[in-house]
This record gives sequence, C-alpha cells and structure tokens, in this order.
Amino acid sequence: MGTRPIEVITEPAALGARCDAARREGRTVALVPTMGALHEGHLALVDEAARHGDLVVVTIFVNPTQFGPGEDLDRYPRDLAGDLARLAPRGAHVVFAPAREAMYPPGHRTSVRVAGLTEGLCGAHRPGHFDGVATIVAKLFALAGPCAAVFGRKDYQQLRVIRRMAADLDLPVEIVGLPTVREPDGLALSSRNAFLSVDDRRRALSLAAGLAAAHRAWASGERSVGVLRRAAEAPVRRAADSVDYVAAADPDDLGTLDDGERAAGRLLIAVAARLGATRLIDNTVLGEDRPPPVATEGG
Ligand code: PAF
Repeated sequence: MGTRPIEVITEPAALGARCDAARREGRTVALVPTMGALHEGHLALVDEAARHGDLVVVTIFVNPTQFGPGEDLDRYPRDLAGDLARLAPRGAHVVFAPAREAMYPPGHRTSVRVAGLTEGLCGAHRPGHFDGVATIVAKLFALAGPCAAVFGRKDYQQLRVIRRMAADLDLPVEIVGLPTVREPDGLALSSRNAFLSVDDRRRALSLAAGLAAAHRAWASGERSVGVLRRAAEAPVRRAADSVDYVAAADPDDLGTLDDGERAAGRLLIAVAARLGATRLIDNTVLGEDRPPPVATEGG
C-alpha cells in the first residue's frame, strides 16, 4: 500500500489559503492541533479527524506561551521528520509547522483567557498555561476557518477550556474530544513519557492504578467524594516523587469538590504528579469513562 506525500506548510497565510481552497471545492476541513513528538494517541486523533473532514490538517508547533519559567520548553521533544513519517500512513494531508516568529511576530500582544475554567487543577500549578493554550488554539482556528478540531481527553481541562473558548467567541469550529489512549498496562500515552527512566515509568503506573481504584470504589456504590478521591490518591502518593494534585471535580465546570461532599451522576478525578523531572497528568470521569487497565505484578 503506497502512502501519499504530506504537504508541509510553514506560513500562516498559506494554511488559510489551503483550507479555503478545500472548502471552495466542497471539501470539509478537520484539524488536529499538536506539539509534535507524535505517538499513537495523536495518531488516533488523526484517524478520528479523517471521519470528520475531507482535508486532514495536523498542526505541529511547540507553543512557547503555554510553558512557564523553569518548565520543559527547551527540552520538549521535537522530531518533525519522525512525525511526518508517522503521519504519512494515517490519512493526514497537510502538516502546518510554523516557526515561532510566524505565530508570534514582534509586536504580538493579544492573549485569550477563559475565566473560571483555568484557575484550578493544572491552572493552579502552571500559571498562564491555559492562556497560552487558548491563544494559540484561537489563532489556529482563525487560520483554518470553519472546521472540526480533534483533541484528546487526557488533557481534560484543556478540552473544556477550548470548548468554552470556541463557544464564547462564536468560532465556527466543532470540537471533538477523544478518549485517552493507554498502553496495555494503563499508562496514558504522552510525549513526555519519552523522558521517563525505567523506574520512573514503573512508578508512573500509579496514576492509572489510582484512577482504576476510584472506579472500583464507584462501581461498588461508593459516592463519598473523600473516599473516591483518596482511593485515587493513595497509590500516587506512594510512588511519585511529588504530587501537584489529586482532585475531585465537576466534569463540566471543573469546580473542585470537598472530601465531605457526595458525588452525583458523574465525577472527574484528575491527577498531576512528578516522576523524576517529568510531570504527568491523567484523569477519568467516574460514571462516564471506562476504567483504565491495571498492570499485573511482574507483567
Ligand atoms: O495538547 C497540546 O498538544 C497543546 O496544548 C495544543 C492544544 C496543541 C496547543 O499548543
């Protein structure tokens, strides 16, 4: 089976022109915004995009405005050639890979803030992060024009922020959220997994193990937020080098719930923890998602 060459665009105006041309031909556009270092989770987004649009555009841009001082912007993995090779067989037609100056030319001043959804969870530990995400995604949507855009639910807060932003700014973009793709032992796929040592990776399984424990408690009828949250927290506290948060929150408005409260229909459990120098996040919505698989001892 032959694969078609992918068209690589680096100029923002050329991306807009390419998407406009497709729409003039009666084709629809589906966008997959990424920061590259693509793994099977990203490729699942590309597969989904092909179900939502005729022209599949993958954007690859390590967005500096969503990294804070001291975060891993400089060491974030970059592999454009490898990404193109991975995308070729998967139905992507166009890759948009702009330079930093093309997206943020001198004099750029505007930032998008989605109030209310961005202060808690990761926002509390990464000030300004979601302003950077919302700003770059708004710019990508403006360039691409009317389209479907596909995002993973591993970045659950990001997905909620982007949905809200698109609705509030009347952007002509249908937001599609896709379940987290996991390794067979439960580890959520992430570009940052490449940084994990063998021992970090083993301990990183505690995130999925905690979420699975919360699911077991939920399935047995437990609705105490404290019991559910602590079930998720215990393995992470034992294994991680540090824990930013293990929180229980409303899956829609992301408001955190106190341990003394009781869960209603659905409950978001979200985790952020560090293994070595690597910060990982994971989440599940009890009452909605399937539990992550759990690693078997020695398996
Ligand atoms: O999820 C990501 O990879 C990034 O946050 C995104 C949405 C591409 C914005 O830079």
